Amino acid sequence: MEDNFGRNIHYLRLSVTDKCNLRCIYCMPETGVTKLRHEDILTIEEIAEIVQAAADCGINKIRITGGEPLVRKGIIDICRQIAATKGIQEVCLTSNGILLPKFVKELKEAGVNRLNISLDSLNSETYKEITRRDLFDEAMIGVKTAIDAAFDSIKINTVLIGGVNDKDILEILELTKKHNVNVRFIEIMPIGECANWVDGRFISAEYVKKLAPQLYEVGTDGVSKLYKLPDGQGTVGLISPISSHFCPTCNRIRITADGMLKPCLHSHEEVSIKGLKGKELVETIRNTIYNKPKRHELNEDGQSQSQRNMNKIGG
Ligand code: GTP
Ligand code: 5AD
Ligand code: SF4
Repeated sequence: MEDNFGRNIHYLRLSVTDKCNLRCIYCMPETGVTKLRHEDILTIEEIAEIVQAAADCGINKIRITGGEPLVRKGIIDICRQIAATKGIQEVCLTSNGILLPKFVKELKEAGVNRLNISLDSLNSETYKEITRRDLFDEAMIGVKTAIDAAFDSIKINTVLIGGVNDKDILEILELTKKHNVNVRFIEIMPIGECANWVDGRFISAEYVKKLAPQLYEVGTDGVSKLYKLPDGQGTVGLISPISSHFCPTCNRIRITADGMLKPCLHSHEEVSIKGLKGKELVETIRNTIYNKPKRHELNEDGQSQSQRNMNKIGG
């Protein structure tokens, strides 16, 4: 459906857990976070009802997020249920890859069409520095298993962190030579855990083009501008939420694992839909979509106004 500003909102990012098996420095504190209480998390039945209500409001694409969605108990049933919902045409999932070897086959069978995998470095030491876990080999096996499983698309997300993984950019780009994947570089956003240190570490997505001037533009895909290396099979995406706003073409809403509907990533506004049913649920989703803010406003310090860490939103 269209919102108040004529944008077609058809994409729901649904977080199914705030838990994660990594502790990325920009997302979660080292010690982990206070976990949501079990009774506050949406049940599989509630998720089914919410997804159907969202579909009734014009949502046709769902991206399942976390935390890490694959640590959620019953994740395959959740995917299957979403894929079977009338009106849902695309079921996507964003994962850190660690558990993909275990789940890839079942995810495909359950109806997941597309996978996005977060991978911030191809160097095991840097990977450990960013994720605070020594699981680089596992992540790479996950990426490889996903590529071999032939999903409709595989995207690799790399969050750019100055002084940490900027030296890995060219190597990550090279992945598009060997594989038909879409490697995306994302500007770090000042939200939650990294809001206080992001200033000195910000790298603009444009920097990737400076490093690799041979990249040539091939179009756009959602929030990313697409490029290719002259000898590339896959594509390179640049996502610039900071240096260029994509709010005017935003097409999405979010639901957190505890059932809060967020019309904008960076807004503090949240509408509780846990416990709502039937007509009341559909009307609440419809009203929230209609009243989606025009653009995200960072506060005077340039920080997001969302009060949550990313693991509690799902990116
Ligand atoms: P596709 O379905 O493949 O287009 O996925 P996606 O890019 O929407 O999802 P993904 O989970 O891979 O997220 C990629 C990055 O874009 C993450 O860093 C997100 O936080 C960021 N992002 C996604 N949606 C928004 C948004 O509405 N606003 C901002 N500022 N950033 C976003
Ligand atoms: N800025 C940009 N991207 C982020 N992600 C998590 N936190 C941030 C941030 N502060 C990314 C993850 C994942 C996606 C869902 O969101 O790396 O790829
Ligand atoms: Fe986990 Fe993703 Fe957050 Fe990293 S960014 S700690 S993988 S939820």
